Amino acid sequence: MLRVEDLRFAHPGQAVPYQFSLLAHAGEVTSVSGASGSGKSTLLDLLGGFLLPISGEITLDHENLVPLPPEQRPLSLLLQSDSLFDHLSAASNIALGLPRQTSKAQAREQIAAALAEVGLDGLSGQQAATLSGGQKQRVALARTLLRARPILLLDEPFSALDDETRGVIRDLVRTLTIRHRWHTVLVSHHADDVEALASRRYVLRDGVLMAG
Ligand SMILES: Nc1ncnc2c1ncn2[C@@H]1O[C@H](COP(=O)(O)OP(=O)(O)OP(=O)(O)O)[C@@H](O)[C@H]1O
Ligand SMILES: [Mg+2]
Repeated sequence: MLRVEDLRFAHPGQAVPYQFSLLAHAGEVTSVSGASGSGKSTLLDLLGGFLLPISGEITLDHENLVPLPPEQRPLSLLLQSDSLFDHLSAASNIALGLPRQTSKAQAREQIAAALAEVGLDGLSGQQAATLSGGQKQRVALARTLLRARPILLLDEPFSALDDETRGVIRDLVRTLTIRHRWHTVLVSHHADDVEALASRRYVLRDGVLMAG
């Protein structure tokens, strides 16, 4: 279980600190909604280790994550878009998720399996710049698969997609979360995304995160 307990943080000049408490279970999507500027991305930055809290705890199965630098935290982050290197192929983007010591043969095999799992067989050689928005999100999810981290943070990951693609990628996130037992934290202010995906819901209001 991912547990955020009474985490406090203030941006420079912010008088009253944010106060975040949250539980996210393996195999479930936990949503965080709230108005623009309410602090949703700030919470993800704290989870990711890009910001450090004043006090409070972040634990995964009782392991304290706060002292760990971002690259050592057991998580992957998927943003609205632009998480790929445009000049690289789909396969090369996915390969960035592999540990350095992976052999070429192993890499080829794992990349092919990840591409198949996100429904992108046959596109491995295509340059990222020429992929559609939905295909790009699939490649980003495939990279996440290879990283094999137990926490997936999603910040408005469907916003750049049309309605149909949105539904498809949403289903993929649900399937992968269940299959790989990810603790998925979804930031979204779209009620239908939350409705479709979240087992547990939180709302950020007046700087305080509450079960909603
Ligand atoms: N580096 C920073 N320094 C000072 N203030 C910041 C910084 N980053 C964000 N803020 C402020 O903190 C507040 C919360 O920002 P945050 O990006 O977390 O909101 P959000 O809920 O993700 O909004 P949106 O839905 O628009 O993405 C905003 O008022 C923002 O201006
Ligand atoms: Mg944000």
